[in-house]
Amino acid sequence: MIAIELIQGDITKLSVDAIVNAANSSLMGGGGVDGAIHRAAGPELSVECQAIAEARGSCPPGEAVITGAGRLPCKRVIHTVGPVWYGGGQGEAGRLASCYRNSLLLAEKAGLSSIAFPNISTGVYGYPKAQAAELALSSVKQTLPETPGIKKVIFVCFGQENYELYMRLKGDAYE
Ligand code: APR
Repeated sequence: MIAIELIQGDITKLSVDAIVNAANSSLMGGGGVDGAIHRAAGPELSVECQAIAEARGSCPPGEAVITGAGRLPCKRVIHTVGPVWYGGGQGEAGRLASCYRNSLLLAEKAGLSSIAFPNISTGVYGYPKAQAAELALSSVKQTLPETPGIKKVIFVCFGQENYELYMRLKGDAYE
């Protein structure tokens, strides 16, 4: 049985196997949750991200990379790059769904069993919160049958608006 949980709080405090970072293509940190994760992890996270960026080039929207967690209580950080919202006609939905899918697939491949997601793209990248929430839930639920090792998924809302949106979408999504 897979536990799907919804919490309101700071993703950097969670001692799950992996937390997902809403990164940018450079992987070199930024504001929002990206800034919070890099601050809490310490400088070694940026060093590892820089090495990945130098080895593979930038991380395109929809894709994800996995690193250590530095001083964070979790074990790994999965950095995924959400789409910037341009109105919905530039493939934003497909790329956002891929962020959730690829993060789960990476966690599975790394042998992890619990993963926490922030509300990717709904901050600086301007993705409409209600559409993003529906997409997050549907993409995770569609991917979970392919990731049998994942036993717990936590949606972490920092802001009240996202939390209320996810609560409204609750249905049978959360145990
Ligand atoms: N824990 C959980 N969620 C958080 C935290 C935190 N500590 N801090 C912020 N958030 C939430 C925001 O409230 C928002 O709902 O994360 C969500 C994503 O917002 P952003 O961090 O702005 O991410 P995004 O919209 O994907 O934009 C990514 O912003 O920080 C830069 O480098 C980043 O260029 C990239 C862009």
